[in-house]
Amino acid sequence: MLVAVVLFSTCGEEKQYTYNQDIAPIIHQNCVPCHREAGAAPFSLTSFKQVNRKKNTILKVTQSGYMPPWPADRNYSHFIGEKYLTQDQKQAIKLWIEQGAPEGEGSPPPVPEYSKVSRIGEPDTTIWFDSIFVPGKNKDLFLIVTLPIELREDKYIRALEFVPNKNNLVHHMNGHLLNYDPALKKSVYEGIRVMNIEVDSASYRRQFDSLMLYHDDKSYPDRIHSAINYLPGVEASIYPEGIGGFTMSRKAMLVANDMHFGPTPKGKWDHSHLNIFYSDDPPKRPVRETMLGTNGVSKIEPPLVIPPNTIREFHTSQYVDQDISVLTVNPHMHLLGKSFKAYAIDPAGDTIRLIHIPKWDFRWQYFYTFKTMVKIPEGSVIHVEAVYDNTANNPDNPYDPPQLVKERTDRGGEGMRTTDEMLQFIITWLPYQEGDENTSLEYSGD
Ligand code: HEC
Repeated sequence: MLVAVVLFSTCGEEKQYTYNQDIAPIIHQNCVPCHREAGAAPFSLTSFKQVNRKKNTILKVTQSGYMPPWPADRNYSHFIGEKYLTQDQKQAIKLWIEQGAPEGEGSPPPVPEYSKVSRIGEPDTTIWFDSIFVPGKNKDLFLIVTLPIELREDKYIRALEFVPNKNNLVHHMNGHLLNYDPALKKSVYEGIRVMNIEVDSASYRRQFDSLMLYHDDKSYPDRIHSAINYLPGVEASIYPEGIGGFTMSRKAMLVANDMHFGPTPKGKWDHSHLNIFYSDDPPKRPVRETMLGTNGVSKIEPPLVIPPNTIREFHTSQYVDQDISVLTVNPHMHLLGKSFKAYAIDPAGDTIRLIHIPKWDFRWQYFYTFKTMVKIPEGSVIHVEAVYDNTANNPDNPYDPPQLVKERTDRGGEGMRTTDEMLQFIITWLPYQEGDENTSLEYSGD
């Protein structure tokens, strides 16, 4: 390829780009993981026809960096599965379209194949969510959805995997796992399965009641907070042997406390499922989770109140009281988010970079997994700096004209809406062990 470019340019002629030769390989590698049948994106880009039909938007979103979606700054820190086009790839797409987007001779390389069942292997059990009707109208829909789980016995879990329905409606979902004490919970099947966050936001308590999430005596079950985090293109978090995993009670409930369906013009049914992967052994190093900010361990300063027509920065920080190894980081804000930065300052005063998101996009909130664990020594302080844009220049501003927007927590019994704001930084971590900083978190299958 490179040789061809050099030859052409020495002849003074511009290289002719074709779909089959130059563009298909780029699309297959960087777009098809999501843009395929039963993939996470709303349309496929697996053929010349499909790509050609969308070429103008493709030009726009690839040059702007919106696609492939990866809001984290790659000059700041690195993670597994980074999605990006090189400058040369962007240029090739641009020139190809400018040259009339020809298909070219021959045929493109074969389209990569993906399993419809699972991205990470053969699940031990699959449980289906109730069918959910998503009523078109091109509006985002945010639901709380529960999935009762009843097993013959308690199980060690290696991983949970959320698999969206082939209509690709689910944009993201975060699931907590409630582990019931079987003696205190007669049935996990009572209670309603689906609730609209916006409509029912007035009474979070009532939601908990209607969903019947308590034990029968109204005590709270054990909760594994981020048992599962799904976002298009993110495979389930399954770590190398010996890291992660948890125990699941034989009576359990997966609570998708924020299931986001993207806008769709026509009403459609969603029928997603959960794959469960067992482990023979108890978890050796179960992953822990700490949440800074809203509902979390650290205070936001100043309090998260964003007056209309302002851009404001907020800060939160947390002292680290033991040596830890960080596996993933997850910045969380809502629609007014503008930028986000998190880092630690160690006792020697050195900076340990965690993540920088220069241009916040609420649609793409990954749990970013480091390639190897990041050690933060005891005595460090984790700092978060978050900027919010409550002006009319923010295209995602839910209010026109802008209005005062405040933090809502789930403690006041008021519930949360996407039009309220949050500032959270979730880190998953392990107590540090010698060699962690060299342990790859990339799952290679075993
Ligand atoms: C991680 C999954 C993922 C990858 C990888 C990905 N996309 Fe997307 N893409 C989506 C989703 C989901 C949407 C719809 C929601 C949205 O726009 O955020 C989308 C939307 C789009 C749109 C429509 C945007 C609009 O404004 O209507 C285009 C065009 C597009 N993608 C092209 C691409 C191209 C080209 C690539 C590869 C260079 C790519 N995508 C890679 C998931 C992905």
